[in-house]
Amino acid sequence: MTVGGDFISAIEASKTYTTRSGLIHAVQGANFSAKEGQFISLLGPSGCGKSTLLMMLAGLEPASSGRLVLAGEPVLGPRRDTGVIFQDATLLPWKSVLDNVLFPVDILKLVRNEYLDRARELLERVGLGGFEDKRPHELSGGMRQRVAICRALIHDPKVLLMDEPFSALDAITRDQMNVVLSELLERYRKTVIFVTHSIREAVYLSDRVLVMGGRPSSMLLDLDIPFSRPRPFEIEETQEFGSYCRTLRLTIERGHAHSDPSRAKVSFAQGAS
Ligand SMILES: Nc1ncnc2c1ncn2[C@@H]1O[C@H](COP(=O)(O)OP(=O)(O)O)[C@@H](O)[C@H]1O
Ligand SMILES: [Mg+2]
Repeated sequence: MTVGGDFISAIEASKTYTTRSGLIHAVQGANFSAKEGQFISLLGPSGCGKSTLLMMLAGLEPASSGRLVLAGEPVLGPRRDTGVIFQDATLLPWKSVLDNVLFPVDILKLVRNEYLDRARELLERVGLGGFEDKRPHELSGGMRQRVAICRALIHDPKVLLMDEPFSALDAITRDQMNVVLSELLERYRKTVIFVTHSIREAVYLSDRVLVMGGRPSSMLLDLDIPFSRPRPFEIEETQEFGSYCRTLRLTIERGHAHSDPSRAKVSFAQGAS
């Protein structure tokens, strides 16, 4: 069940880290919501709290205050209906491609045989049919990240949380990965929250792009990207695409001008040195 049609919500979500040099307010009072099936990108300067917000949604970091709600339930820890993908594919080097994809099935103690066909189908769809028995070191960075995507989808989670998954790839591989991900989501519809630094990537992939600002963690812009799907890569050449990119760039630049986003606000705890 979802509240008011929202499938994912952050309500005044905050995260404060206590460090030796004081309190770091990584996220302060963030608010946003997503409908089921939406692809939402989060853009914003380094250090504005995108990863922290994503980790709170994944249940991997508890919120200090506020609420995160997913599919009508508060997020209190890692959940089976969420798949997470990081910048690094973090595959197990001694396991084959197929066994890496099936790893969540083993961890969740599901019946492996019931997921074999799905694992093979996923690998086929990302262009890795025939690579099932390879080890991660035999694959390129882009191929490893494709395996990580299959692994995140194997147990059919409702939500995918992705933290700069293509940032370490070269530009051409990154473009290919955007097309692969877009096609995959045509087949396996998911609600996606996608953190990226690339404005073009965000516009190509998303239904909505949020620009996150400094502190408090405000959403400076919530931009609808109404291109129909499937999206041919050529939309990147259109004037409309360029105009969305320009709007986003100007908003991010304005955000920079009004804050020092390179550092989270640090308040010194009493007695801290
Ligand atoms: N585990 C942590 N301990 C202390 N500070 C942290 C921790 N994780 C993140 N931070 C700080 O919180 C702020 C937000 O970080 P992060 O969410 O990684 O930002 P972004 O992903 O937007 O670059 C940064 O200043 C970062 O240094
Ligand atoms: Mg980050």
